[in-house]
Amino acid sequence: MTRSEAVRSAAARLRRARLDAPELDARLLAQAAFGIDLAQLVARGPDPADPSELARLEEMLERRLRGEPIDRILGVREFWGMPFRLTPDTLSPRPDTETVVAAALEAIAPRRGPLSILDLGVGSGCLLLALLSERPDAWGLGVDRSPGAAAAARANAAALGLLQRASFLVGDWAAALERRFDLVVSNPPYIPRSEIARLAPEVARHDPLLALDGGADGLAAYATILQDAPRLLAEGGVLAMELGAGQSADVTGLAREAGFGTLGLADDLAGIPRAIVLSRA
Ligand SMILES: C[S@@+](CC[C@H](N)C(=O)[O-])C[C@H]1O[C@@H](n2cnc3c(N)ncnc32)[C@H](O)[C@@H]1O
Repeated sequence: MTRSEAVRSAAARLRRARLDAPELDARLLAQAAFGIDLAQLVARGPDPADPSELARLEEMLERRLRGEPIDRILGVREFWGMPFRLTPDTLSPRPDTETVVAAALEAIAPRRGPLSILDLGVGSGCLLLALLSERPDAWGLGVDRSPGAAAAARANAAALGLLQRASFLVGDWAAALERRFDLVVSNPPYIPRSEIARLAPEVARHDPLLALDGGADGLAAYATILQDAPRLLAEGGVLAMELGAGQSADVTGLAREAGFGTLGLADDLAGIPRAIVLSRA
């Protein structure tokens, strides 16, 4: 069987299983299984595939047919134009979270460095590392309760050449922190606990529970972060957080109770308020 025939056969099986984007997934799996990029896949398409390559493709294809997300199989997800390696301890970064990056960058645009950034619940490192990539005058600290996530974020920082300006800590939100930051960002777990079992299986089975579980009402992490934020923010500092769908009024209310005013709300591409930017009222 040639490489092209293997890709076509994989796409046909994915199509029959009614999975989204069967051609794209087949090509991405083949590139990973054969260890080549798209240009090489096209150029070497007519060559016979090696049996070990076909075995690797079959193993990946079966995982996809069982409903495992493509980024989990490939072990990498693009965010803010950069590749982030995933582990079972990291949430797979979502495009919606780029709304938080854009809103935070806008909020700190007038400020000159050196800037300090804190990312609470750093996961793969996507938020903190995207911000550091845009602001060479900034350094940052990422905190996660999951040691595996903190280690993954550190590895991503190293792979992206940002480790000199980034540190990582295992901790329970900001409990162990004593210093103040110019910008605090967070994409906290915000799914109400009772809804987790009803999430799409690709999320419920493959993203870590610690990254999803927002307590009984989905707001537990926001309440803790907002309680700590006054002692974490430097003079004129801002707090930018991701919002779950339909949570903007509740989080705005919690923020007001904690002494914060809303500088801005930013919508995601679906028009849902997805990021909130706050400062001390
Ligand atoms: C929704 S994920 C966000 C991950 C990443 N920042 C992103 O945007 O893809 C929430 C993260 O918070 C972490 N987390 C949950 N509870 C925590 C706690 N008590 N203290 C610190 N981090 C926590 C989870 O391990 C997870 O990495």
